[in-house]
Amino acid sequence: MSTAIDDTTLFPDLVWPRQVRGQLLKWIGNKQRFASEIISYFPSRFDTYIEPFLGSGAVLGTLAPRRAMAGDAFAPLYEIWSTLRRDPERVIAWYAERHALIRAMGKGAAYLQIRASYNERANGGDLLFLSRACYGGVVRFRKSDGYMSTPCGVHDPIPVAKFAARTLEWHQRVAYTEFFHCDYRELMARAQAGDVVYCDPPYVDSQTILYGAQEFRLDELFDAIAMCKRRGVFVALSIDGTKKSGKNVVAIEPPPELFRRETLVNCGRSMLRRFQMDGRTLEDEVIADRLLLTA
Ligand SMILES: C[S@@+](CC[C@H](N)C(=O)[O-])C[C@H]1O[C@@H](n2cnc3c(N)ncnc32)[C@H](O)[C@@H]1O
Repeated sequence: MSTAIDDTTLFPDLVWPRQVRGQLLKWIGNKQRFASEIISYFPSRFDTYIEPFLGSGAVLGTLAPRRAMAGDAFAPLYEIWSTLRRDPERVIAWYAERHALIRAMGKGAAYLQIRASYNERANGGDLLFLSRACYGGVVRFRKSDGYMSTPCGVHDPIPVAKFAARTLEWHQRVAYTEFFHCDYRELMARAQAGDVVYCDPPYVDSQTILYGAQEFRLDELFDAIAMCKRRGVFVALSIDGTKKSGKNVVAIEPPPELFRRETLVNCGRSMLRRFQMDGRTLEDEVIADRLLLTA
């Protein structure tokens, strides 16, 4: 049975704005501001929504689908999502406990303690707080040993009450989503005719240091997309558009015939770049993501 996209939202616009009021996690490369635009390119009717590179789940949260599968290869992130679905009060408690340390010992010291705890044993509670409190929302890992190295942000992490309200909203938005800790290929292999898959993979050039440095090869993703397409699955792929990585301009050419349409989604300035440039803004760093569509 297909679901019209306007009924796919759990909360009709009159009761609930489709746009999420605020991010649960701060996440580099998140699609929060462009989620509605991306969704507008999805077919108007589909069965299951599948998001295999979930990150902070901007598109999933905005869509709030009635039936969905979402996954990420990064275990502590999966821990946050699966706990949000099962036990949102626990997610709120995670944040509140860590936020309380700010009052007890000051923001900088609290941040360092939580970062040390995360680096001792990677876990969802610490990652959640670090993503909200770290510099520029850039959760960054040292290449050599996976050590989370981002310094403390200059901002104050959002108050607990505000975070709690967001958590409860996001809990409702993902109420019908099944979460997976897995490689994207595993999730995409489950897609069937009539489903929609939205892929937002790591940027090939610049993101191997982020998210715990998982292995990722774009040509393998293209193969997985081709298999989905053959089964009658609609796939939308966000991919680096005009962005530069260091001195390289990333130019990615997908196999001919794989995609039917392409559009540019304006993604504004690159937070990663701003972080690397130590806070300086760069007028020429406006980037746009390409959105490639199989139908
Ligand atoms: C660009 S981010 C997704 C951002 C997301 N759209 C958002 O709005 O926050 C890419 C995500 O893919 C995940 N990832 C990287 N390699 C993966 C793999 N092989 N399989 C599944 N997820 C992977 C990363 O952990 C990261 O969370």
